[in-house]
Amino acid sequence: MLKNILITGGAGFIGSHVVRHFVFNYPDYRVINLDKLTYAGNLKNVTDIESDSNYSFIKGDINDVKFIRELFDSYPFDAVIHLAAESHVDRSISGPMEFIKTNITGTVNLLDAAKNSWAGNNKSKLFYHISTDEVYGSLGREGLFSEKTAYDPRSPYSASKASSDHMVRAWHHTYGLPVVISNCSNNYGPNQFPEKLVPLVINNIRNGKNIPVYGRGENIRDWLYVEDHARAIDTVFHKGRIGETYNVGGNNEWKNIDLIKMLCGIMDKKLGRRQGTSEKLITFVKDRAGHDLRYAIDSSKITSELGWRPSVSFESGLERTVSWYLENKVWLNEVLSGKYKSYYREQYG
Ligand code: NAD
Ligand code: TYD
Repeated sequence: MLKNILITGGAGFIGSHVVRHFVFNYPDYRVINLDKLTYAGNLKNVTDIESDSNYSFIKGDINDVKFIRELFDSYPFDAVIHLAAESHVDRSISGPMEFIKTNITGTVNLLDAAKNSWAGNNKSKLFYHISTDEVYGSLGREGLFSEKTAYDPRSPYSASKASSDHMVRAWHHTYGLPVVISNCSNNYGPNQFPEKLVPLVINNIRNGKNIPVYGRGENIRDWLYVEDHARAIDTVFHKGRIGETYNVGGNNEWKNIDLIKMLCGIMDKKLGRRQGTSEKLITFVKDRAGHDLRYAIDSSKITSELGWRPSVSFESGLERTVSWYLENKVWLNEVLSGKYKSYYREQYG
């Protein structure tokens, strides 16, 4: 069946993998990638599909109400998969307003355009909102986030994502918009902007620069390979029940310091350096303000109801990720533009 799918944020890290997944696997769907191309958006992430007949790209801002309205007037969208967002916690601490604007107001603009465009005819439509496990707050040493865990966001980023989740549910309950939400744990893999932990560590080791570890490196995250997330999004898109939320996680908790040491070992091996060389770059720095201690997802609902589970082991996913960054130096050097360098100086001194 022909479907027109609007994917927002498709030039970013996760969005580019989702766009590729849908373009490759569903030749009958028409995928329209809408992205503002902020510092995190990069069309080089999707060069392999740019000339496919079922793919097109539109540059635009989800905060631009008139543009979004006209977009929905021009295309008969059957579904929206909404990933566009400001996504980096540290940037949300130093400059929260952009997060409030894009993550909350931008999401509402899309919800409203979908509601108006699909009015009286929304039975087979879907607005799928991609969110994060960070909306649930911070765990102690025990326990997992389930879909029933109360929201308790603690950073401007997670609070803005929590607000957007509430807005999506409000448009469902109040206006009958068919929606589904998934909340995923930390992703890693190719094409991630090197301000996030995994690519930052790889890039710093490559350049012999210090590896900044916040606090004592005791914080815990649950890591999922990005292509497994793209498969989870496919599963929820096709099989998820309207109005429901699905948690997505890797069942793969790592203390930051242990993950960093593992990356150091893989880098030493790949670069032909003596084991232990990269670990010498580890530098403990001032902790992130309000740093959440632990995130961990209970993904039993999506597994038992929809049949999704992670398929890539952490060892093989990290190996693949390191190889990708080492083989794509041009990509890495290009995204490390002047603008990023000044942010880096501000953040780390
Ligand atoms: P990213 O920062 O790599 O990409 C975001 C994309 O959105 C970029 O291409 C950017 O240009 C685009 N964008 C930003 N503002 C826009 C605007 N106003 N209009 C149009 N496009 C705009 O982010 P990511 O890591 O790929 O995350 C994608 C989504 O997944 C986000 O909603 C994020 O909250 C969510 N998420 C991320 C993770 C993770 O580990 N990275 C985990 C769970 C959920
Ligand atoms: P990050 O990749 O920013 O993801 P998030 O904060 O959304 O989980 O950070 C992952 C973890 O790594 C988090 O506990 C903060 C920590 N971290 C560092 O220790 N040093 C760094 O330079 C960065 C970017 C993150």
